[in-house]
Amino acid sequence: MGESITPRRFVAGLPLDIPQHWLPGNEVVSSLLNAYTILVPANEAFYIRTLNACMRHVANDALRERCQTFIRQEAQHGVAHKRYWDNLDAQGYAYRGFERAVDRVIFRTMDRYAPLWLRVSLVSCVEHINAFLGYEFLSQSILVEADPSVRDLMEWHFAEEIEHRAVAFDLLQVIAPRYAVRLLGALTTTTLFYALMIGMAASLLVQDRLLWRKASWRQVAHHFGKGHGMARRTLRHLREYLRRDFHPSRLEGADDLAAQVLARQARKAPPTVVAVSSRT
Ligand SMILES: [Fe+2]
Ligand SMILES: [Fe+2]
Repeated sequence: MGESITPRRFVAGLPLDIPQHWLPGNEVVSSLLNAYTILVPANEAFYIRTLNACMRHVANDALRERCQTFIRQEAQHGVAHKRYWDNLDAQGYAYRGFERAVDRVIFRTMDRYAPLWLRVSLVSCVEHINAFLGYEFLSQSILVEADPSVRDLMEWHFAEEIEHRAVAFDLLQVIAPRYAVRLLGALTTTTLFYALMIGMAASLLVQDRLLWRKASWRQVAHHFGKGHGMARRTLRHLREYLRRDFHPSRLEGADDLAAQVLARQARKAPPTVVAVSSRT
């Protein structure tokens, strides 16, 4: 696998006057990605702890190097998304108790009780989800009308998820290559990921008193149904993951898509993201 992974820092500001529903006319997608922002830091800290715990089992220098670069990218994602929490706080959302409970009850419990092979399998599957979500949002230009600050944050993250999408899967092949391990990780991760995302997004919409409005359900139907086809596309990507000969590198056009986003962001003046050259 010859992908090139560059650690970058998201240096753009996230001003406090970003609209609460930053994707105009689409409170549902704004809330889904706000839920993603809330869940990212604890989630990605779990990936980092898991990969660090694997390091002593990895003899291949190239894979070790890829894991280290993956860790540096994920650490920056957590930092940037947490900065956006200031906006959610200013908008009066209650989410921190839920976020802390998820970290304690799910991720810290996994650290303590789940075997390493299962933890790596969970990370491998959620990295596939991160990559195909990124691919779908970028390839369908779903965020083109979004507030530019949040669009930059999300698109940078999505592009890097595409860039490093094969690392955790390749690590799983070293730690626990059995198909049953991949299957168990996929079932657990898919259930947890969608339950947490939908639960958190629904909670945000309830706080906005928008959940039971007809227009919100039209937005749900557009996003998951005929408009962006996310339900059908998600099932297709998940089925791909269950193919015995699956490899994350086979996501056609994804690398070019990510490279275009990152090049556009680096070209901006001042740039949205900067490459981090030295180890930090
Ligand atoms: Fe990430
Ligand atoms: Fe990732």
